[in-house]
Amino acid sequence: TILILDFGSQYSHLITRRCREHNVYAELMPCTTKIKDVHFKPKGIILSGSPYSVYDEGSPHVDPAVFELGVPILGICYGLQEIAWNLGGEVSKCDHREYGAADITINKFGDGAVDALFEGFGDQMKVWMSHGDQLSKPPPDFHVIGHTQTAPFAALAHNSKPLYGIQFHPEVTHSPNGKAVIGRFILNICGCKQNWTMEEFIGKEIARIREICGPKGRVIGAVSGGVDSTVAAKLMHEAIGDRFHAIMVDNGVLRLNEAAQVHEMLNKNLGVNLTVVDASDLFLSRLDGVEDPEKKRKIIGNTFINVFEAEAAKIEAAAEEELAKGGEAKGRVEWLLQGTLYPDVIESISFKGPSATIKTHHNVGGLLKDMKLKLIEPLRELFKDEVRALGRLLSIPAHLVGRHPFPGPGLAIRILGPVTRDQVKILQLADSIYIEEIRKAGLYDQIAQAFAVLLPVKAVGVMGDQRTYEQVIALRAVQSEDFMTADWFDFPSDVLRRISSRITNEVAGINRVTYDISSKPPATVEWL
Ligand code: XMP
Repeated sequence: TILILDFGSQYSHLITRRCREHNVYAELMPCTTKIKDVHFKPKGIILSGSPYSVYDEGSPHVDPAVFELGVPILGICYGLQEIAWNLGGEVSKCDHREYGAADITINKFGDGAVDALFEGFGDQMKVWMSHGDQLSKPPPDFHVIGHTQTAPFAALAHNSKPLYGIQFHPEVTHSPNGKAVIGRFILNICGCKQNWTMEEFIGKEIARIREICGPKGRVIGAVSGGVDSTVAAKLMHEAIGDRFHAIMVDNGVLRLNEAAQVHEMLNKNLGVNLTVVDASDLFLSRLDGVEDPEKKRKIIGNTFINVFEAEAAKIEAAAEEELAKGGEAKGRVEWLLQGTLYPDVIESISFKGPSATIKTHHNVGGLLKDMKLKLIEPLRELFKDEVRALGRLLSIPAHLVGRHPFPGPGLAIRILGPVTRDQVKILQLADSIYIEEIRKAGLYDQIAQAFAVLLPVKAVGVMGDQRTYEQVIALRAVQSEDFMTADWFDFPSDVLRRISSRITNEVAGINRVTYDISSKPPATVEWL
């Protein structure tokens, strides 16, 4: 295992991902973690970047015990400066903040060899820089292994210990050799084995679930038809069969035919014990007349909890009844499944730099505070791409495993005005045509997320000899790695033409289609 100590950089989670992409398990912890509290023995440590300056009052520093463990350490950006700060180097402000691509020249030793960290990359490589401070004097016993035009000490290594520091960010895709540099560190310098694979994970996780659930006791969990909840549900089913009960709440703002499709897939095809609850009337009546996006999110979040709890209570009552009749085999409802992923875990443990909440994302986060159930989170160690790989191994069909994300509040945040059944129908139809055409054009997998939005305006059009005055659909499609930033997708124009013509012809109430060409930032992915 590689331990990544997070100083609050926006890229810290990417370091963890890159290690995992080399099939090496890596775990992120806040930079202030005391080494004695780390529950595993790391084979190596990576110190992340940070929005802070090492000399500022209140800036974060590592437990000095890190340097006494004797395991290899790689400092990235602030991490490099932190090593210098601890071991007697000097850091100073750059004249200008350096942000963007740079060329690093790899220093050669007298015999022409280069440091083990940079073996195989030639004389020079493109790297991504993002820093306001840099090293002005290396600590004693360190030598320079790479430099750029503006940074004479862009990469350092200790003369005898496995201590390294680099000013650039190898974890971002803008550093083309970055993943390989991380590979050099964790594989060649730390000597990690590449044994983090989903094949290994499945067996271990099923065994772990069986052990913590015991021979009796039921687990309930919400499913949405999305990748995470489907994979989590299938994993639970593999581990404990019908003692796992999945609940799907139809909130009335799902995509076209979604509840039926989820039932077909999870229950009929994957064999998961599933109840679908049609609560669309309740949701839509509570949403009646509401326009404010945050209010819509709250109503949907709270109503979801009400409906789910009521359904869970029914399952619990049935279980109690069975027990009363002497049916001991399955036991009481004791656990709640949550499809928490590693990025959520990182979000909750990572060292917070200054940042602001843009919108509240309501999932099932606050679910069941007082239901006295214990949480079971089989995916909490995994990144999204790992969940997808796991899904493929669990025989979940490719079209589901590769599905774009769909927000918890559903179409309610894609209908810009008040939500009504009629508006939902219009949007469902337009959205399904849009996605169908994207799939037909073979573009679905190139897009991170695509969806239609129903605008709260009317525009004039003409159909036959008739003047029309109808609503407008906006189409959104973005490419993105992690949804923190996103760019609009550049469709071939014939695909857009086909989509527009089908929507205006087939969806009553729409006479105009527009394409959203805003990136995030300054826009967000969703319109609300
Ligand atoms: P934004 O609009 O914040 O979207 O750029 C980034 C990603 O988050 C999804 N999203 C949500 N997901 N509940 C969710 O479960 C929400 O309230 C919510 N709002 C946005 C959005 O679909 C995109 O993938």
